[in-house]
Amino acid sequence: MKLQIHGDTRVPGDKSITHRALMFAALADGESRLSGLLPGEDCRSTAAVLRALGCDVPDLPHDGAEIRVPGRGLEGLHRPSAALDCGNSGTTARLMMGILASRPFACTLTGDESLRGRPMRRVTEPLRAMGAHFHEAGEPNRLPIEVTGGPLRALDYASPTASAQVKSAVLLAGLAGNVPVSVTEPVLSRDHTERMLTSLGVAVESSEAEGGWRVSVAGHGRPLPALELRVPGDPSSAAFLAALALLADDGELVIRDVCINPTRTGFFRIVERMGARIVLANPRTRGGEPVADLVVRPSELRGAEVGAAEVPAAVDEIPILAVLAARASGETRITGAGELRVKETDRIAAIAGNLRALGGDAEELEDGLVIRGSDRPLRGRIRAFGDHRIAMAFGVLGALPGNEVEIDDPAVAAVSFPGFFERLRTLSGGVR
Ligand code: S3P
Repeated sequence: MKLQIHGDTRVPGDKSITHRALMFAALADGESRLSGLLPGEDCRSTAAVLRALGCDVPDLPHDGAEIRVPGRGLEGLHRPSAALDCGNSGTTARLMMGILASRPFACTLTGDESLRGRPMRRVTEPLRAMGAHFHEAGEPNRLPIEVTGGPLRALDYASPTASAQVKSAVLLAGLAGNVPVSVTEPVLSRDHTERMLTSLGVAVESSEAEGGWRVSVAGHGRPLPALELRVPGDPSSAAFLAALALLADDGELVIRDVCINPTRTGFFRIVERMGARIVLANPRTRGGEPVADLVVRPSELRGAEVGAAEVPAAVDEIPILAVLAARASGETRITGAGELRVKETDRIAAIAGNLRALGGDAEELEDGLVIRGSDRPLRGRIRAFGDHRIAMAFGVLGALPGNEVEIDDPAVAAVSFPGFFERLRTLSGGVR
């Protein structure tokens, strides 16, 4: 049996950019016009939290159609009447903490079981240093957490992890609290917050510095203008479809309008080294973000070494990279990826355990994985552990001829890629 792939397709809007567009629109003065927003569950959580704070965010359309969001201004958010439920979304919880740190009221943030298991002090510690108050209502370092905002002071923060959520929380606190902030991180993490702020006229300085990469925003002190933005396709979602095309036997897949911001495309650089044939065609800029069409052709892949410096730009793609490694010749060794242990699930354990459950060869390292590829059939049942990217990565593996992968909870893909499994079925319909 061979898998023929032919298609000209798109992926839903970028998740990180969608969260930020909704938050900035809520904080702007005037009506923002946003299209291409990801209607995934995570972004619905951000919309619901903003609504609970008094912002009139419409439902996120299934087809990316334009919505208009009336801004409430930097000072306009109101005390919510109940706890703010961030669902499965770490970005919602951590970025909203930054915004709420300067608001003159108390409110509680919570989330689903997965999110309630994830560390929050990485954000509450720097925000505390700025003057905000946090009460951990449950377990230490975990949601639910009550935030009491107020006047903030300036902060120059050295973040021990390359995390866009930590960086963005501090930048948003500085912006909403009108105090200067700087964040230095060991490696530049995704920079959508910086780009969006710049496009809104906020002075952002970003440069290599001792200890990594330093980003600074001086207190802004002026209203934010409304946004007009079309969100490009999510490169993290595109990675799953690109992986299917790379593992196919014949054909070509075009994925249009994908964000190719270099802080997000580490996966594509790594797979190129593994032998992937991917062309970034028609590069252009949209709303301050680089965008291109990806042309992906089936490829013979070989194993690769991936180290700490490469992880931040590929952090969400390690599950699908591991699937490619399981089909590549030779060994793939991923290190410096300890952050994977605190994602929607412990992704290092989930990837290694699931690959082994299917008959693959995978070993857990404390901060990474060693995977030896083969072309033998992989069959069995895997657990997604409530993690969208684990479900989708193993979905791709299961779509290959000869493999049979049963996934306990495929519906969880809707967190970032509604309709993923239908799309996978359509694209892999060419199995013969
Ligand atoms: C995100 C940052 C990353 C990423 C997450 C989205 C963001 O998390 O894994 O899916 O939108 O800022 P970390 O900041 O924890 O690395």
